[in-house]
Amino acid sequence: MSKISEIEIPFTIKDDLLNLSKPSINAITKAIKKRFDSNNLHTYIGYYLVRLNSFQTFPLEITKKTRFYPRRFYPPDLFAFIDKIYLEMIEKKQNQLIVLNGESGSGKTQTTKEIMEFLLLNSLIENENQNIKKIQSCFKLLEVFGNAATKQNPNSTRFESFFEIHFNKKGNICGMKVNKIFIESSRIYTRKKGERNFHIFYQLLRGLKIEEKEQLGVSSIDEFNFLTQSGRFSIEGVNDSHELVKTQQAFNDLGITQKTQSKIFQILIAILFIGNIQFEEENENAIISNQTTISWISSLIKVDPNSLINSLTFKTISSEISTDTISAYSIPQTLNEAQKTRDALASEMYSRVFEYIIEIINKNLNSNQDHEFEIKILDYSGFQKIDKQDLNGLFTNYLNEKLQQLSTINILKKDQSQYQKEKIKWQNIPFNDNQIICNFIEDQDPNGIIYSINKSCEDPNKYELDQLISQIQKLQRNLRKNQIFTKNNQNL
Ligand SMILES: Nc1ncnc2c1ncn2[C@@H]1O[C@H](COP(=O)(O)OP(=O)(O)OP(=O)(O)O)[C@@H](O)[C@H]1O
Ligand SMILES: [Mg+2]
Repeated sequence: MSKISEIEIPFTIKDDLLNLSKPSINAITKAIKKRFDSNNLHTYIGYYLVRLNSFQTFPLEITKKTRFYPRRFYPPDLFAFIDKIYLEMIEKKQNQLIVLNGESGSGKTQTTKEIMEFLLLNSLIENENQNIKKIQSCFKLLEVFGNAATKQNPNSTRFESFFEIHFNKKGNICGMKVNKIFIESSRIYTRKKGERNFHIFYQLLRGLKIEEKEQLGVSSIDEFNFLTQSGRFSIEGVNDSHELVKTQQAFNDLGITQKTQSKIFQILIAILFIGNIQFEEENENAIISNQTTISWISSLIKVDPNSLINSLTFKTISSEISTDTISAYSIPQTLNEAQKTRDALASEMYSRVFEYIIEIINKNLNSNQDHEFEIKILDYSGFQKIDKQDLNGLFTNYLNEKLQQLSTINILKKDQSQYQKEKIKWQNIPFNDNQIICNFIEDQDPNGIIYSINKSCEDPNKYELDQLISQIQKLQRNLRKNQIFTKNNQNL
């Protein structure tokens, strides 16, 4: 392999890497680096736009209501690219989709914000100032409730979402909508060392007034297992207490009353207290060892304490006896089952709070307004290298692999197969095709991870520990047959 410095880059590849005469990782890296060194963050690859994260904010050279690119001249630049998409939507009367692809920390969310900003500045919007403020508040809430500090990114998006921007016949923005696909709610009870839980929890514990804390029965972050377990409490340069003021302002801007805000905060604190529920074993069954915590949670979320205890320490099994008869009975849970139920309860509650936040946002964004066209933007949690993968992490990385496959198909596979079909002389470009990884996860046979996990969960009896272990061992045997698994990790 030749060194980067040995490769000459012809002038023609300046803007579009498809013009590269000998595409190779070195040549591509050198071309992009050369542009980056001269403050050019953008490069085309056909109709894909490559954008580097400079970690510095550049002033947006956008003049209000003025498109600064002459029509049909689209240099590699985010705003030119978006302008092109916008014009295509209007002229061809076609809805548009923007997929942001890149690993965690690469700048997808920052880019989404800039796209929104550009579209807002360049399309007419009713009650402009008021509406722009509302949109900013919506983004703020999404960030506070859906983002967390990870090792790779202090403000990492931990949910997948489709933003829709709605336009009327004249091409003016008339509404927006956030479609949540999935939130990494397992972060509530588990995460890697050195990562934080969702931002909102730290804001509340650092920013609430003393009397508000007293009312909620809290004093500091250290008293909650869900916050202390990963050993990270702060983000450099971020003052959680000041951030809470901004969060409360965002709620106010969206017309959410103090009373509703307090109720939301009460539920969030209850979620933290759920993480403090302790169990002990009595005759192999789980019983609660800190009743006062249960009483406090019950008063915060207004549920009967006995129902809460029952739902944690008993499980209900129902079976269909005939078409109109169902038999149901309750059996005590083991210690391990009760702990898992506690964590599941907390993460489900958080998931529902997040859904409620999205409901508030969509109400404020005029999401049901009739519209003529739309631009959808897919922003999501980027790929993360994780030593020990949980189900949430597996699905996040799976989505990343699928999107990578989409780019591979569009940039390389389609063109190369077309050349072959038309018998055009062409030297195939070698590339890493991640199809094998996608198959490994999604194959509908025992070699596929999702299929194997589904099978092992089908029969409730298989939840019994020894049966579950034998299922996992079977899954490991099947996984080892897969080339990718064998190469990278023999020990599950
Ligand atoms: N164009 C930019 N200008 C300034 N800072 C940027 C820019 N793009 C990204 N950053 C900074 O880089 C960091 C990561 O960006 P961002 O959160 O957008 O990544 P992401 O791809 O959305 O990551 P994740 O998948 O973890 O959500 C942030 O701290 C952000 O402020
Ligand atoms: Mg993000």
